[in-house]
Amino acid sequence: MFPLLVFLLFYFFSPAAADLAADGSALIAFRNAVGRMVLPWNTSLSPCKWKGVVCSSNGVTSLRLPGRGLIGQIPTGTLGNLSNLRSLSLRRNALFGPLPSDLARCTHLHFLYLNQNRFSGQILPFISSITSLIRLNLADNNFSGEIPLSLNNLTHLNLLYLESNHFSGEMPNLDIPKLEHFNVSFNRLKGPVPEKLRGMPASAFLGMSMCGGPLQPCLGEAPLKLTNSSSLAGGAIAGIALGAFALFVLVLTVLFLFFRCKGKADEANFTETAGAKLPESAIKGKEMAAASAPPLGIAVSKKQLVFLGNAPRLFDLEDLLRSSAEVLGKGTYGIAYKAALEESLVVAVKRLKNVKMPEKEFAEKIKAISAMEHPNLVPLRAYYYSREEKFLVYDYMPLGSLSSLLHGNRGSSRTPLKWETRIKIALEAARGIECIHSTSPSASHGNIKSSNILITSSYRARVSEHGLSHLAPSSQNLTPEADVYSFGVLLLELVTGKAPAHGGRFVNLPRWVEETLIRGEGTRELFDEELTRFRSPEEEMLMLLQVGLDCTSQNPDHRPEMSSVVAKIEEIRHWAARKKDKLKEKEGPVVF
Ligand SMILES: *[C@@H]1O[C@H](CO)[C@@H](O)[C@H](O)[C@H]1NC(C)=O
Ligand SMILES: *[C@@H]1O[C@H](CO)[C@@H](O)[C@H](O)[C@H]1NC(C)=O
Ligand SMILES: *[C@@H]1O[C@H](CO)[C@@H](O)[C@H](O)[C@H]1NC(C)=O
Ligand SMILES: *[C@@H]1O[C@H](CO)[C@@H](O)[C@H](O)[C@H]1NC(C)=O
Ligand SMILES: *[C@@H]1O[C@H](CO)[C@@H](O)[C@H](O)[C@H]1NC(C)=O
Repeated sequence: MFPLLVFLLFYFFSPAAADLAADGSALIAFRNAVGRMVLPWNTSLSPCKWKGVVCSSNGVTSLRLPGRGLIGQIPTGTLGNLSNLRSLSLRRNALFGPLPSDLARCTHLHFLYLNQNRFSGQILPFISSITSLIRLNLADNNFSGEIPLSLNNLTHLNLLYLESNHFSGEMPNLDIPKLEHFNVSFNRLKGPVPEKLRGMPASAFLGMSMCGGPLQPCLGEAPLKLTNSSSLAGGAIAGIALGAFALFVLVLTVLFLFFRCKGKADEANFTETAGAKLPESAIKGKEMAAASAPPLGIAVSKKQLVFLGNAPRLFDLEDLLRSSAEVLGKGTYGIAYKAALEESLVVAVKRLKNVKMPEKEFAEKIKAISAMEHPNLVPLRAYYYSREEKFLVYDYMPLGSLSSLLHGNRGSSRTPLKWETRIKIALEAARGIECIHSTSPSASHGNIKSSNILITSSYRARVSEHGLSHLAPSSQNLTPEADVYSFGVLLLELVTGKAPAHGGRFVNLPRWVEETLIRGEGTRELFDEELTRFRSPEEEMLMLLQVGLDCTSQNPDHRPEMSSVVAKIEEIRHWAARKKDKLKEKEGPVVF
């Protein structure tokens, strides 16, 4: 903040300088919202020296940040304050949400390139009020609603690209004299190509059931001798469109069922993951204790295991107590064991300590925990309750915890965790936590850390220990915001490869990242060298770091909700997928 202040004072005394100072603070607000990590602008210098920024004597006139890894939603009071802006290019980033409505204040804007992002919502009327626009490219986003006729207001428009969005309804009769470059392909428009656009090529209207002009004649206006084949073709197109729509609905339904928080029990998985063999690489220094290990050896009174849900009951209490056991780790709520009942049946047992609760209350809380079914939560299968002993039986996760995958055996031979796997784990863990938070407004996990993110044999992440904070008396701060903070630390851990607690020493990762950034020695030293060694995509790592820093904001009210964290990580992955799609690399032809 201090250098910015110096800079503001420095520029305060002439009118143009005052403009520039205002532009500078608007740009910094923009950067803090969507590009904190990827735009290392030096606030001691004039904004005109910042990468991507161009000025004239009036102030900032051009901001070009294509493909820079910007992520998030553009707030009002940022770009809208750049009143001298003539050219804005933010194409090929991971920006989403509605456009800031105050963009209308950029009344000198000639070139607006927002293509290849995921902006959503309608094309708001304000776009039509920026009458200076010459080129407007909104292609490849998630805009929806109708295309407004008021675009006719943009009398200077030469290029209008709206393809690959979700615009619907009929195409309005745009009558823009200078319009040369036009594309509305791959939307959900229907009906006739309007009069004034009939000179545009057919490829401007691809992938929709429109008709007339360069396309198939519309039914009503077909040439008199309408042949069977052309009416068939019309039917076929409608059929294909219908089929595509049905498929889309089907995919949506499947996705919905799959990610629904209280989804159906993943029954097959119980035996599958329970039966999975522990690969050599996952042992991480621990001794494999199959047949030779001692039995679980918990002394219990004559009660039985209570099984939850519909999982097959493959063993009973005696089997479990006789099984060979191995300590997996000591956690906040007790010791976790791996119990091998048979070669193909392994479970994890969590022996709870300090739980003093009547059986009825305990049973109710356990029922609530097991009701939370989600592909990214470790399923709770059974519990045991007696006065002196309480334990929980979970699916065993063969690859252990994220913590051991990230930090185990460093320095010796180990298989590093690839970037793609890390970001997938981040997304899945976020979805698991989002599910927990969705059960009630104040629901929280209470103990998010990398050792509580467990990994299945197919590298899927599952959050463990959910619900346990409600069994044990705890002095911890149990809020969703506290979970978001802890998850942010986990994201920083994934990118930096640094453990937040190491050999009894506590490293404040958010502070370390901030300080490293401020020292300004470049961002590379932030990254886990196992990632840089394999040339992992730097922008994506920076984007994930930014999400991590947002989550670890000191003020809990400034932390995003888990659902928006999930959305951001999804955006990073989409962005990455799109980047691979080298075909789509256009801003339109150069015309002046
Ligand atoms: C943008 O302009 C508004 C009103 O002119 C002002 O209140 C706000 O502080 C400005 N935003 C920034 C980041 O400077
Ligand atoms: C696309 O926009 C729709 C409607 O505005 C919204 O519900 C949906 O979440 C958006 N999808 C993505 C992936 O951003
Ligand atoms: C059309 O442009 C005029 C100024 O030329 C403006 O006053 C009006 O609000 C614009 N209409 C829309 C719908 O944006
Ligand atoms: C319109 O966009 C689609 C999809 O990107 C493309 O296939 C088509 O060639 C474009 N047509 C024109 C006229 O730009
Ligand atoms: C920012 O610019 C100032 C003035 O040129 C310079 O002294 C400083 O080292 C720069 N800071 C960074 C982090 O590059």
